[in-house]
Amino acid sequence: MTTRIIGIGACVPDTIVTNNDLTAFLDTNDEWIRERTGIGERRVSTEMGTTALAVEAAKRAMEDAGVSPEELDFVILATSSGDNSFPSAASEVQGIIGALNAVAFDISAACSGFIFGLHIAQGFFASGIYKKGLVIGAETLSKVVDWSDRSNCILFGDGAGAAVVSAEETGLIHMLMGTDGRKSKVLDCVGRTLGNCLTGFKPEMGFMKMDGKEVFKFAVRKVPEIVNQILDESGLAKDDIDYFVLHQANMRIIESAVKRLDIPMEKVPTNIERYANTSAASIPILLDEMKKDGKLHRGDKLILAGFGAGLTWGATLIEW
Ligand code: COA
Repeated sequence: MTTRIIGIGACVPDTIVTNNDLTAFLDTNDEWIRERTGIGERRVSTEMGTTALAVEAAKRAMEDAGVSPEELDFVILATSSGDNSFPSAASEVQGIIGALNAVAFDISAACSGFIFGLHIAQGFFASGIYKKGLVIGAETLSKVVDWSDRSNCILFGDGAGAAVVSAEETGLIHMLMGTDGRKSKVLDCVGRTLGNCLTGFKPEMGFMKMDGKEVFKFAVRKVPEIVNQILDESGLAKDDIDYFVLHQANMRIIESAVKRLDIPMEKVPTNIERYANTSAASIPILLDEMKKDGKLHRGDKLILAGFGAGLTWGATLIEW
């Protein structure tokens, strides 16, 4: 048995923050941000936390799939910006939607998280342990970026996307994933620092820090590499693929991948202009838009590819 996505849903906060809005407190401008990143605006949450966004996306995905919460065997939620250290966001989602037969847990793989979640589901399905579940990517990165760091905060946005996955004969065709922990410091956000009865009671929380150039160099090499690898290993050609659904981190990274892979831009949907980088949520939000736009048809072949902090990367070849 393999993983088929049978329902998709997304939820983004209502509040739009444009590049021009950022100039109120940041030495930046719309032209610079658009040219370097392709981003025009992002959603920033003032009320809904990561769990609330995930709940809404999950409900929409279940409605799309025609699946009730009781039918779910697992809820896997990928996030780097959960509302709590514990319990997991997945546990909260499970309780709120009433998926009481499901085991629920979070995974931390940054922007590769949704893809890693699909692969964990694949393990469950291939071994016959479970039959249905939710894989969610949800983030409120607006609370972890340093809003005084202009080369960083302009890049990110809040949102959630969710997929109902089911064990079926066709679906996931091939997958790969990887990590290089030696590069863990090029993009990080430290948790609570040590603060205890011996050191004094002053734990602090960090903000996101990034060596943008290092991440950029890594991404422009890694994205085409993993797309080519998954094609080679599955014996399919670029022309066999209907869509390349790439993590929405930077339009220049996407364009560079398109060039290196020599694939038509029409096969590479994007929405970074409107949502910026929503990390683990970017791929399912994009899939949801594609479905709503009537772009996805049963039997279409898609490569999903992502990368992020860790450093991590992953790619999945699926049949829709
Ligand atoms: N507005 C205006 N100027 C800005 C700016 C902003 N928001 N941010 C940086 N600058 C300035 C810099 O201070 C620098 O000025 P200087 O030359 O006077 O020092 C200049 O623009 C160039 O900065 P640089 O960092 O070299 O720009 P860049 O072309 O490398 O682009 C990123 C920066 C962050 C957009 C780019 O490196 C990137 O996208 N990296 C990948 C990040 C990413 O995708 N992370 C998530 C991974 S999941």
